[in-house]
Amino acid sequence: MEKILEVNDLKISFHTFSGEVQAIRGVSFDLNKGETLAIVGESGSGKSVTTKSIMRLLPEQSSEFKSGEILFKGKDLTKLNDKQMQKIRGKDISMIFQDPMTSLNPTMTVGKQIMEPIIKHQKLSKSEAREKAVKLLDLVGIPNPEIRFKQYPHQFSGGMRQRVVIAIALACNPQILIADEPTTALDVTIQAQILELMKSLQKKVETSIIFITHDLGVVANVADRVAVMYGGKIIEVGTVDEIFYNPKHPYTWGLISSMPDLETEEEDELFAIPGTPPNLLNPPKGDAFAPRNQYAMKIDLEKEPPMFKVSDTHYAATWLLHPDAPKVEPPAAVQKRMKMYQEQHK
Ligand SMILES: Nc1ncnc2c1ncn2[C@@H]1O[C@H](COP(=O)(O)OP(=O)(O)OP(=O)(O)O)[C@@H](O)[C@H]1O
Ligand SMILES: [Mg+2]
Repeated sequence: MEKILEVNDLKISFHTFSGEVQAIRGVSFDLNKGETLAIVGESGSGKSVTTKSIMRLLPEQSSEFKSGEILFKGKDLTKLNDKQMQKIRGKDISMIFQDPMTSLNPTMTVGKQIMEPIIKHQKLSKSEAREKAVKLLDLVGIPNPEIRFKQYPHQFSGGMRQRVVIAIALACNPQILIADEPTTALDVTIQAQILELMKSLQKKVETSIIFITHDLGVVANVADRVAVMYGGKIIEVGTVDEIFYNPKHPYTWGLISSMPDLETEEEDELFAIPGTPPNLLNPPKGDAFAPRNQYAMKIDLEKEPPMFKVSDTHYAATWLLHPDAPKVEPPAAVQKRMKMYQEQHK
């Protein structure tokens, strides 16, 4: 499989009044051509900082790139100057954010906003760009695109606005589309429609997608592979089947247990992983998840686990995978959901 993006040992900190926040502490992953990689993890685990650093959208004043490589088709983006990076941003790699209203300019028609990157990056004439913009509106499922082209964002519903944002992101046929929780601000039915749209678009436009979410529930339907983040690191990565059918890290078990299952009623309280994420001002010495891990061993408090190999595509950073560790089965709630997943995807 052809790698389009390779992130190696990325480390990023923020300088704050309280000290240095070690937000990203050695993240490595790759993205293959045409695949959707989901990045999941609790709030603060580092999903947005990781992807914003790819786009170089972190605040210049307070953030510090400590080390690492971000190879886009073999070229290290961290070595590019701002001008070279501008050529890549919005053209080769584009990004969709959570809230469609803040990504759109309220004073400009949506048509103009879609035309803007086309004119900037593709050097098409105005009329060609216009034609392309209308086609894009149609592609993302907006009825009457000719009329809609001339309207302003406030004339669109939330779900329709997010479709416009997707059209802008796709305007220059990017090779990588980063979607940072693109549906969390929308209600559930609209969420499902936008996810459906992204899935069908990927087939049509052949873009590689990084899909960020804290909802493991949507991952099974959109992603090919999953990277689980905790405390500024990727602690497990695998194909969707490997993560749902054979999860290895107790944190991944916690995330899976937090998903509703078939018997969950609306009034039932969902499982929540006890405790709080690590303090990144002063990250713990061993496995950052140890204080919340009921299976933690002595070594978890002393030494960071390496990524243990489970298969060619599946790795997890937990001492439970060490050959000398006791054999531990996932808790019942996880096994129940593993079975459910298996039945749904037979
Ligand atoms: N501008 C900033 N200044 C200081 N710390 C920051 C800044 N931006 C992010 N952080 C810290 O970096 C860490 C990772 O944040 P990030 O936004 O990547 O989390 P996330 O996984 O995207 O969470 P969420 O699900 O809430 O979006 C957090 O500890 C956060 O507090
Ligand atoms: Mg985020």
